[in-house]
Formats: sequence, C-alpha cells, structure tokens
Amino acid sequence: MSKTLKSILLGTALTAATATVSAAEGVELEVTHWWTSGGEAAAVGKFADAWNATGNTWVDGAIAGSGGTARPIIISRIIGGDPMAATQLNHGRQAEELIEAGLLLDLTDVAEAGDWANIVNPSSLLGACTLDGKIYCVPVNIHSAQWIWLSHAAYEKAGLEVPANWNEFTASAGALQAAGTLPLAMGQQGWQQNIAFGAITLAVAGQDAWNGVNIDKNADVARGPEYTAAFEAVVAARDLAAGSNVQDWNMATNMVITAEAGAQIMGDWAQGEFSVAGQVEGTDYSCLPGLGLNPVIDTGGDAFYFPVNDDPEITAAQLELAALLISPEVQVSFNLAKGSLPVRGDIDMSTANGCMQKGLKILADGGVLPSGDIAFSQDTTLQLEDLQAQFWSSDMSAADAQAAYAEIIENAD
Ligand code: GAL
Repeated sequence: MSKTLKSILLGTALTAATATVSAAEGVELEVTHWWTSGGEAAAVGKFADAWNATGNTWVDGAIAGSGGTARPIIISRIIGGDPMAATQLNHGRQAEELIEAGLLLDLTDVAEAGDWANIVNPSSLLGACTLDGKIYCVPVNIHSAQWIWLSHAAYEKAGLEVPANWNEFTASAGALQAAGTLPLAMGQQGWQQNIAFGAITLAVAGQDAWNGVNIDKNADVARGPEYTAAFEAVVAARDLAAGSNVQDWNMATNMVITAEAGAQIMGDWAQGEFSVAGQVEGTDYSCLPGLGLNPVIDTGGDAFYFPVNDDPEITAAQLELAALLISPEVQVSFNLAKGSLPVRGDIDMSTANGCMQKGLKILADGGVLPSGDIAFSQDTTLQLEDLQAQFWSSDMSAADAQAAYAEIIENAD
C-alpha cells in the first residue's frame, strides 16, 4: 500500500474512534463481533461482564450474520474513519491489510508485560497476530472446525447406537431416513459447506494429503487419488444433507438439538448452542473430533484487534482490555461458555465437558493443524467457499468440483 494512501487512511481513522471517556463510567469502548447466536451471546457476555467489572463500560457492537457478513462491515468502518474501539476477527490473515496500513494498535508492550510469548499455546496463535516482530491482536480462543455433532434422541428413535466415526455415521443414514430423520443438517452458506468439505477431506483423504493441499498448497495433491476419494465422499454427504433448508449454522445445530437431524459437521462453537439448550454432552449429544477417523484439530478461533485512535485515555483502555481478555479467569469463563479451548495452558479447565476435554487432549498431544484462516488469504478462502456453495447446492460432479478446487489451490496465495 502506498505511503500516501496509508497517511490518508491513518488520518481518517484517527478522527472518530467510537469510544468515550467519562469519570462516571470509566471508559466506554464499542466492541464489534459477529457472535449473535444463543451460545455466542452468552460467551461474549462473559467478556462484557469482566470489562464492566473494572468500572469501564462495554458497548456491545454485535453484527448479525456470519463472519462473511460482519468482516466487510468491520474492515470498511476502520478504513472509512469510523472505527470501533475493539473488534473480533479470526486468527490469521483477515487483518493483514489493516495492519500494513498502520490502522491497528501495536500490542507488543502489553504482550511482553503479560508474557504472552510463553503462555499462548500453541505459539502459532501469537504468530498469526505478529507482523514484522510486532503483535497486533490478542488471541482469545481456539476453535476447530473438524467436528461432527450427533443427536442421541435421533439415534434412539432409529434404534441405533450413536456412531463412533464418519463411516458408521454414513452407514446409519438409511435407518435415520427410515425413521423420518434428516441424516445431516447443513446451513446453506458456503463457509459452512467449506467446513464440512474440510472435515471430510481430513478424515477421508488423510492428514498427509490435507497438509499437502492446505499447508503446501500443492495442486497436484488436490488432483490426486486421496482427494478424489474425498470429493466422492462429499457427494455422498451432499445427498445426506438434501432437504436441510436452513441458512444460519446455529439453525442447523438446532436441528440436531431437536433431533430433526441426526448430525451436523460444524466447528466446536456449536457446543454453546447445546449448552444454552440445556443439553448435556454424553447424554443428549456426542461429538467426534476429526469425524472420529483422524482426531486432530485446527487452530482456528478468534482474536481481538484495536483500531488506533488519538485519545491516550482510550488507547490506555484498549490496552487494558487486551490484557483482560487473555487473563486466566476471563479465559476460563469465556471459553467454557463459548465451547472453545483457551489460548493459555496454565489455567484450570477441569470443569470443561467431555467434548472440550477431547479437544484439550488433542491439543496437549500436539494433534494441531493450522486453520484455513491462517493458511489462505481471504481472497482464496472466499473462492473456496464459493466453490463449496455451488458444489453442495447442485448436482456438480465430484470430478468437476475437484478440478475447480485444484485450480484454486494452484493459484492460492
Ligand atoms: C467463527 C468464529 C466462531 C464462531 C463462528 C460462527 O468464525 O471463530 O467464534 O462463532 O464463526 O459464528
């Protein structure tokens, strides 16, 4: 980005940080995020409660819709000179242009004071916040996408045991359908279909092939036999999701909660929905990381960024909030509600349920992959999501989808 453009952007961005300072309520900070489902709202409320308890005020800037809806709004506000005081984005490359334009606050001093380099685990999460040796975000959780969530009531109705892996799930689909149950719930949005595609390829193509494509961006592997098997498995999964006429991810989760569907492939943020519905892991639902075939997790998740502003009191409050979000007690309260894993390994998560314990064990055993948000640029990610939206909502052949996919990987940045 040219220096001229940078100075113009920085000039506009400095004008209107949405935050105010008053003696009575301390500092009011507007915080944007896209956490609007029941479970997400409960979780972000833990952040708000913690910030309000410091005598400051959390002004909630929830943006309805998925990240794909919220991110352009967030980014255009920052670039357009109407920045919030803090915002959630995913770990990884979503903010790289904002950082390069000098529009986000350097958190390096807070990170050093909080010893983030030694407490953030895996350290790749901090790496995803770092550019030219400076830290520009505070990681707050680890979300992984390679999970399937299964309804015990649906399997009881079908007279079957709850599957222990993807193969048992696909084998159970006929009995679910005979019992009037949709086998696989799927929201009709490309990012959700891309999550299902990613989880199925990891389980069916295997980790080596997955690494070849998602880390090495090797189009030959994407064209190879392992991915051919994965694309054929996705066509079979597409048939199991036929008739899943919901949009938002949490509406698909609700189909599992109400046993309208037998299962959903979704990130572990689905846990928050089961929790607010009063459902208990192991009794009402089960979870299988890596679809039960390849128990690894990716290090997706969320981090908070702080647009620069010209008021030292607001800047001080932003830095205080950054430190608070990664503090031990807030990490426990937020992640237990969010269904995500904490970014620090020095806290007591013994009250986490069985699904989170599975994730924590995989993390401790090092079964960790980089998330797509870290591996691919936003442009490539959106191309991958658009392909999956087309693939899952049409009769596109496995071969055609695989050829188009390999083309995207070949040109991925
Ligand atoms: C992800 C985010 C999660 C989750 C999900 C659905 O991008 O990391 O926190 O809430 O979106 O909204």
